[in-house]
Amino acid sequence: TLARRIDRPIVLVGMMGVGKSSVGKRLASLLDCPFVDADEEIERSAQMTIPEIFDTFGEDYFRDGERRVIARLVTERADSPSRTVVVATGGGAFCNAETRALILDKAVTVWLDSDVDTLVERTSRKENRPLLRGGNPREILARLRAEREPHYRQAPIHVVSGAGPHVHTINKVLQEIS
Ligand code: S3P
Repeated sequence: TLARRIDRPIVLVGMMGVGKSSVGKRLASLLDCPFVDADEEIERSAQMTIPEIFDTFGEDYFRDGERRVIARLVTERADSPSRTVVVATGGGAFCNAETRALILDKAVTVWLDSDVDTLVERTSRKENRPLLRGGNPREILARLRAEREPHYRQAPIHVVSGAGPHVHTINKVLQEIS
């Protein structure tokens, strides 16, 4: 199967709201392999939601946990033979130099990218992003996207996720990784 042939974790990176979790979940089910959401793993190990972690301990603490959780997820899987896994990362994870180097070394890295309008629309559905509080979401998303693009661009696979259904994006990802 494709999952066996790939034999490395498939890591989705890109901005919040681009659809890493939705695309990742469906991609994993098509590949018949596990799906892990790094943000959910962080919440599980902290027994707190991401906004609670930001409010209680601050962003630096969150970033530290994020770095450790992703390192564990990516290495664990990369070292376990003949099975792949799809990992969705939080939007800021790939901006950490250590995390980025590890992911690029161990995984098939896919940058999912959307325009700002799509990011605004998709992030407005759920109020769980501390970085979008206390400001204009469009301005914040546009600024973060511009700042982070040089990092995301280092992913060898770049898939544009339009405003339409995720199935198109998933098909493009499948083509690129096959
Ligand atoms: C963040 C994105 C979020 C989450 C946290 C910070 C970011 O993940 O990790 O709120 O810095 O872009 P999603 O990309 O899954 O929304």
